[in-house]
Amino acid sequence: MSKIHIILNGERRSLHVEPNDILLDVIRDKMGAKSPKCGCDRGDCGACTIFLNGKSVKSCNILAIEADEQEIVTLEGLSENGLTKLQEKFINMNSFQCGFCAPGITIAATELLNHNPNPTLDDVKEALSGNLCRCTGYTPILDAIMSCKK
Ligand code: FES
Ligand code: FES
Repeated sequence: MSKIHIILNGERRSLHVEPNDILLDVIRDKMGAKSPKCGCDRGDCGACTIFLNGKSVKSCNILAIEADEQEIVTLEGLSENGLTKLQEKFINMNSFQCGFCAPGITIAATELLNHNPNPTLDDVKEALSGNLCRCTGYTPILDAIMSCKK
């Protein structure tokens, strides 16, 4: 076991991890942030997407020990001060059905809009290319993101 420190959603936390502990599992099971999901465990679905030092990453592909002294933001952290405009659009436009993909897609789309507030539809599709949704056919998700354009 190694002692590490992770800043999760603005709070510095100390915890012990095994060398092979996966970051996604540690965030969910040891740190209590349940929004990142395990859809595939091999980097394909994007359900586990989080911000690591401000960049979206798939947390199933990262060892927890690699996140020592790093800053993580999950969906819980994005909503700390109320829903973002994007989240409100997702809700009001009924973008999701089961919602399993929603946390990862929200992180990926937030990253896009932070860097490119006026994306084209192709930009949005590209930004979500690593996030699978098995329910919606993507149209209501894309519509909500496009409606956030400045
Ligand atoms: S669980 Fe990480 S990409 Fe699917
Ligand atoms: S809403 Fe069910 S997987 Fe996307």
